[in-house]
Amino acid sequence: MMKTENVLISVRDIEQLKQKNDAVILAHNYQIPEVQDIADYIGDSLALSKKAEKTSAKTIIFCGVHFMAETASIICPDKKVLIPDPEAGCSLASSINSYELDKWKKEHPNALVVSYVNTTAEVKALSDYCCTSSNAVKVVNSIPKDREVLFLPDMFLGAYVAEMTKRENFYIWPGECHVHAGIRAEEINNMLKQYKNADFLIHPECSCTSNALYLMAKGDLNKNGHILSTEGMMNHARNSNAEKFIVATETGILYRMQKENPNKSFIPINENAVCKYMKKITMEKVYNSLINNVYEVKVPEGIASKARTPIEKMLSIS
Ligand code: 13P
Ligand code: SF4
Repeated sequence: MMKTENVLISVRDIEQLKQKNDAVILAHNYQIPEVQDIADYIGDSLALSKKAEKTSAKTIIFCGVHFMAETASIICPDKKVLIPDPEAGCSLASSINSYELDKWKKEHPNALVVSYVNTTAEVKALSDYCCTSSNAVKVVNSIPKDREVLFLPDMFLGAYVAEMTKRENFYIWPGECHVHAGIRAEEINNMLKQYKNADFLIHPECSCTSNALYLMAKGDLNKNGHILSTEGMMNHARNSNAEKFIVATETGILYRMQKENPNKSFIPINENAVCKYMKKITMEKVYNSLINNVYEVKVPEGIASKARTPIEKMLSIS
């Protein structure tokens, strides 16, 4: 039971409201434990977009950040998409706006634009493809080698994709996520000295990604280094024979990892890697969303219709 503004909230209350409103709760892997526990589905950006696309529920309560709820609203125009806190933003999505992208496109008139899903609907509307961390390499590989590519907005994910695809004519926007940029090369080096037999799970938004690739190429991170999306990390944790895992991403994922793998141990590479935007969603706010039908995320159709094409390409290449 949880108390909010003189109301005691139980998981049963949430369940009853979900049924009454024909609602489904989708939660990102970085959500707080209580929210993960009441979710129908937990996953990474790609998995949640796919769940949104497939659900038969009339209302989607999106427990994540604003661009994720916007993506759900774009691909499900007939559903009501609610975010429990409209202030749940994303520093990475804020690092480029549609004016900046328009200007960049004019400097490269023949280029194709690949936008990470962590972007606003306006930026997606100006893009040719969207991608997530789990399919960025595949999406870029699907583009003919002789085309220029503008990749945005994450420079660390961009550097990783450039290395994996070995493309020329690949331009990267200098944006970053403040949480993952804070996970640095020294942290991998220090952890490697302490945990020689652990598996290292690294999100490609981390500033340590290039160092991880270098260590992998050198053989120091040999078979135990893995650059993965958050859902890729979950799958790896489940299937690997390792007992210890060093996790280089937002720390919210550790709750689910430990819950689903009680006999393994998970160690955050940096305990301060916490996304304040993801943590804005609380059980009380989810309850408020269900009771008061707030806060609706609706993208104007003029923008949504343009953003839908790159998102659909992202969903088909995974
Ligand atoms: P994933 O798609 O890997 O879950 O990443 C989303 C995100 O916001 C990472 O910070
Ligand atoms: Fe955005 Fe970074 Fe938070 Fe992910 S962790 S939602 S990229 S600010």
